[in-house]
Parts: sequence; structure tokens; C-alpha cells
Amino acid sequence: MRFRHHLFICTNERQSGSCCAQRGAFDLLRTLKNELRRRGLDIEGGIMANKSGCFGRCEQGPNLVVYPRGSWHQICTPEQAVALIDELSAEHPS
Ligand code: FES
Repeated sequence: MRFRHHLFICTNERQSGSCCAQRGAFDLLRTLKNELRRRGLDIEGGIMANKSGCFGRCEQGPNLVVYPRGSWHQICTPEQAVALIDELSAEHPS
């Protein structure tokens, strides 16, 4: 096993209508990567955050999916991003 969790953050940008890029997906991605790095979780056995394409929930973004557990999240604030990392970390205390 390489990473315990993969976070796929939609960063899709649409020409018209709402999209995750427009709704703060790149700030979310940056916050998650910085927080994972700060906690030393961005290593094998930890949690990886990656960009993803559209999930078809464009009006509710920014959207994120956690694998392998398959949970869907709308993360709108840095506090929510940190809370998700807290939650995932608690599943596998080191
Ligand atoms: S643009 Fe993110 S779900 Fe469609």
C-alpha cells in the first residue's frame, strides 16, 4: 500500500456556469497539500491530494472524493479542509 487515502479534488473549469475552479478548488488543493506537508502526512502510508476532473456536481463545489473509502465532500473553507484531514488521520492513528 502506498497511500492510505487519496483525495481527488475537482479543479475543472467550465466556460459557462458554475465550476469547482471558479468556486475555490485551487485554494482548497493548496490548503490540503500545505496541511498534509505540515503534518508529515504527504509520504508513503499517508494521504495524497491530487487534482481531478469534473464529478458532475459543479453547482456544489469545490468537490472532493476520498478513496478508497469513497466518500464525497463539499469543502468550502480551510477549516473544513483541516477537519477532513483530522477525520482521516483519526481512522489510522500513528
Ligand atoms: S466542475 Fe467540479 S464537479 Fe464539475
